[in-house]
Amino acid sequence: MGKVYVFDHPLIQHKVALMRMKDTSVKDFRELAKEVAMLMGFEATRNLPLEEVEIETPICRTRVRMLKGEDIAIVPILRAGLGFVDGMLALVPNAKVGHVGLYRDPETHEPVEYYCKLPKDIEKRQIFVVDPMLATGGSAVAAIDFIKKRGGRNITFMCLIAAPQGIETLQKAHPDIDIYIASKDETLDENAYIVPGLGDAGDRLYGTK
Ligand code: PRP
Ligand code: URA
Repeated sequence: MGKVYVFDHPLIQHKVALMRMKDTSVKDFRELAKEVAMLMGFEATRNLPLEEVEIETPICRTRVRMLKGEDIAIVPILRAGLGFVDGMLALVPNAKVGHVGLYRDPETHEPVEYYCKLPKDIEKRQIFVVDPMLATGGSAVAAIDFIKKRGGRNITFMCLIAAPQGIETLQKAHPDIDIYIASKDETLDENAYIVPGLGDAGDRLYGTK
């Protein structure tokens, strides 16, 4: 069974608190999403593969360990997942980026796919699926289904806020993946929004409400 990591780092908690506030501007929300993605990504990338490389310092030749950058893929779930991409790329600039487009049907709350484009060699990569919200879990489960159908195997899921229902659903559907969460919330409301949550992450990132 994959592990669930909930961050208790004060910087992450502070920034998530700012993102929850309803009067936080779109600009600030977007900047905070990038900062939290970097802070979370620092820990979520702890087990990334390294390779030995020979380099020359001003003193001598030596062997050092460097990231196998070409082995990483970041896959945001459109559209709110895009808010995590820049923060992750700041950490692993050579990573490839795939996209999975899903939206929740407003009536059924079921995910509807509209786009999927992944790096050709996705089966070789350590994949970070990113989305700020894990509510019912439907979108994350569907996105990871698509990625696995296309050969992806080594998958980590990262989100800002998760409801207990979403964590359970995702773990049941994909018991092999690790889940990184900045904050675990109480429950879902009747519209399947996370409570207390931060509202609609896509609207808050892009000012569409
Ligand atoms: C949001 C969010 C997740 C999904 C989570 O996307 O970014 O993808 O809802 O909900 P779930 O766990 O119940 O599936 P939304 O469907 O609002 O689309 P958007 O990012 O385009 O706004
Ligand atoms: N999607 C969001 O953007 N927010 C929620 O609270 C639930 C799903």
